[in-house]
Amino acid sequence: MHHEVSLIATVAVSFVFAAVCGYLADRLRLPPLVGYLVAGILMGPFTPGFIADGALASQLAEMGVILLMFGVGLHFSASELLAVRGIAVPGAVAQIVLATVLGVGLASLWGWGIGAGLVLGLSLSVASTVVLLKALEERNLVNSANGRVAVGWLIVEDLAMVLALVLLPALAEILGAQGTSAAGQAAAGGMPLALTIAITLLKVGAFAVMAIFLGPKVVPWLLTLVARTGSQELFTLSVLAIALGIAFGATEIFGVSFALGAFFAGVVMSESNLSHRAAADSLPLQNAFSVLFFISVGMLFDPSILLREPMAVLGALALIIFGKSLIAFCIVLLLRFPVGMGLTVAASLAQIGEFSFILAGLGVTLGLLPREGQDIILAGAILSITINPLVFLAAEGLENGIHRRWPVFFTSYGKKREDVLARELGDIRAINEERNRQHQLRMQQLIDTFPLFAQVDEHAQEELLLLFKPKSASPGERIIRIGDRGDGMYFIASGAVEVQLDSEPVRLEPGAFFGEMALLSGGRRTADVVAIDFCEFLVLDRRDFNVFMSRHPTLRAAVSTMARERAEMNTLRRNPDRTSGAA
Ligand code: CMP
Repeated sequence: MHHEVSLIATVAVSFVFAAVCGYLADRLRLPPLVGYLVAGILMGPFTPGFIADGALASQLAEMGVILLMFGVGLHFSASELLAVRGIAVPGAVAQIVLATVLGVGLASLWGWGIGAGLVLGLSLSVASTVVLLKALEERNLVNSANGRVAVGWLIVEDLAMVLALVLLPALAEILGAQGTSAAGQAAAGGMPLALTIAITLLKVGAFAVMAIFLGPKVVPWLLTLVARTGSQELFTLSVLAIALGIAFGATEIFGVSFALGAFFAGVVMSESNLSHRAAADSLPLQNAFSVLFFISVGMLFDPSILLREPMAVLGALALIIFGKSLIAFCIVLLLRFPVGMGLTVAASLAQIGEFSFILAGLGVTLGLLPREGQDIILAGAILSITINPLVFLAAEGLENGIHRRWPVFFTSYGKKREDVLARELGDIRAINEERNRQHQLRMQQLIDTFPLFAQVDEHAQEELLLLFKPKSASPGERIIRIGDRGDGMYFIASGAVEVQLDSEPVRLEPGAFFGEMALLSGGRRTADVVAIDFCEFLVLDRRDFNVFMSRHPTLRAAVSTMARERAEMNTLRRNPDRTSGAA
């Protein structure tokens, strides 16, 4: 039997190679991602042995980027993004412009034209999100102010690249790149440049408006809706559907990158109380697929470029590691932020990745960039990613050095702005933590008031919080009327009620429940229930009761036992003779 298994082969071999090489890298005290890159090179077309499907690998890598960016978004609130805009926007824009100028300069040294220089410069000016996040994660910096600034900076870079990708075809046309102006024209749609820019900005703007205004309303609502079904599987599926769906939609409809779409999907989801569950659910996939990103980078790499164009590779590498970081460092200082932040941002950006490949690929198709330009960019990427941990070490060393030698520089320069930013981020975090705390508190209160719910796991308790509808009653109000059909089960959070039985009323207090008998039997209400105080109830309606109880048989059994005891008690009270008879 012959059938197509290249996807399975690619995934399987990638995981096996990555696991082995990652482990070996760890033994050699290298970061595992170096192992993943080597695994990619081994699986690529430029080395003997197994050759994986490059196109598939790069798509899988894109999944990795999507999931990873989604994960970051989940831990990043929209307000945090706004808080760092004062440094991220001017910083990223200035850095892209300056690094591109350097790229053009470098290319002119090699005798390349302005078009090739621009593509090279742009490719070298954007850092890889995946690499940055891994680096920050390893150093526990993602949640620090410096980490927030670095990620914000990268988001702006990503946004700028959306524009760059649209402008390249137009540029190719203007420069009349040989042989491919037809491709350029097709990509630009034969539109005037100003119109292309306007449409792109409009699309990005429309996406931003949707993400900021519509998303926070729709996405948490959707998640709650699904969480109420109580199905774990459906919940995880929905989280992934939302992440990948928004990423894909963002690309198809608004022309922004997958990564950016996924990031905003995460940001939007972070507004929900269920975001921690979404994060936990998507983490394993995120880890697995981000490994595939490094593999696919490795696969593209042709090691022979190191022999063919060693000086060019070194030049590009120097621009990435020294040029770009120096520019970023200076910009941070010029914006009057402190040295420590400058060094972290500089080290974070001293590498290139996914966007560079996309830009370089497009540059070659449009006839702007010579083929070896792409190889040089790839070599620059792979080397800068590998060296990045060393750059971080060097930055730390430098920071300590400066600290020792010029302590004033640390205590005074940029302190004011950093403090303001840190305070702002701190306030935002405090608000988010308070929201989480409130949520936890509600969960705790639920179990404290109703020990019955200690029998089910945390997810089910969370689900109950979503299912419950609050209801209140004043003294004397009848909550349940005998003979009615059962519409819900009531849990008393505060106050007290009386179950009016023929014999003598029974008083129920906070922590007790009523209204279960009609729901269990499917029959009519067996008694009147009247509030004798101001009451707060949590009500589980009939449909939710049925679904929830069928999923949690132990709880159903406990409630049924209570209902049976009550029924027996009522029968006995109605016919007291039967007691003596039985006794
Ligand atoms: P249901 O029959 O749906 O509506 C009336 C509710 O009163 C009933 O469910 C029980 O929850 C509650 N009830 C009936 N008998 C007793 C009892 N003996 N003690 C406490 N609660 C009762």
